[in-house]
Amino acid sequence: DPTVAVVLPAAGRGSRLGGSVRKAYAELDGVPLWRRSLELFTALPQVVRVVLAVAREDVERFAAENREVFAELNRDGERVLVVAGGAERVDSVAHGIERCGDAELIAVHDAARPLAPREDLAAVFAAAAEQGAALLCTPIASTVKRVRDGRVVETVPRTELWAAQTPQVARAALMRRAFAGRHAGPPATDEAELLERAGIPVAVVRGSARNFKITTPADFALAEALVRAEAA
Ligand code: CTP
Ligand code: MG
Repeated sequence: DPTVAVVLPAAGRGSRLGGSVRKAYAELDGVPLWRRSLELFTALPQVVRVVLAVAREDVERFAAENREVFAELNRDGERVLVVAGGAERVDSVAHGIERCGDAELIAVHDAARPLAPREDLAAVFAAAAEQGAALLCTPIASTVKRVRDGRVVETVPRTELWAAQTPQVARAALMRRAFAGRHAGPPATDEAELLERAGIPVAVVRGSARNFKITTPADFALAEALVRAEAA
């Protein structure tokens, strides 16, 4: 298997979740989201590095508070690093990409998706290795309306609409080339958008609904129920 470096953006505020701490530090059945997401990847032998981007003002305290976690994970070298995030998600990811070293693939995964199935990770890594770039997506389940001024303009056919998940993965050189162009337009909301803008084809791998992003309190409650049911 090709080697993989993973960037985990975890520097957002979590305003839609609305807790007293940043979302990445929220504990799902006693384990913070950042740690659950980190461990999805440290469990995989082909993952040679994980770069966690946390809020700039937290970097020192975060590293100190979790010194033992990182010492254990880094017994055999620099496998897990912490960097400062930026103002937008794309900035946090860019900081992480700078520290990805010489891995063959770069994968980006939201720390807010702690339940990604292992087989989905393997599938998207394999697709990126073969085709250059790939991301996990799920077909849109809802009927979609285009709305203006509070009124329905049209019903958008959803046969071609897919919801993007993460990981979003590319050969390292392609991901770096895509990010070099990130200041050319408005802030991109994901890596695939930058790859698209750079003219790099991105393959779609159908992912599991289980890999939903924890955004709202209802998402958090669902994730906690799933984790507790599986631990029981
Ligand atoms: N993220 C980041 N740096 C930012 C903004 C977001 O690293 N400046 C990360 C978040 O920590 C999260 C992922 O990007 O893991 C996806 O973003 P989102 O779900 O929108 O999280 P938040 O931005 O934290 O939430 P909200 O938009 O509700 O404030
Ligand atoms: Mg956000």
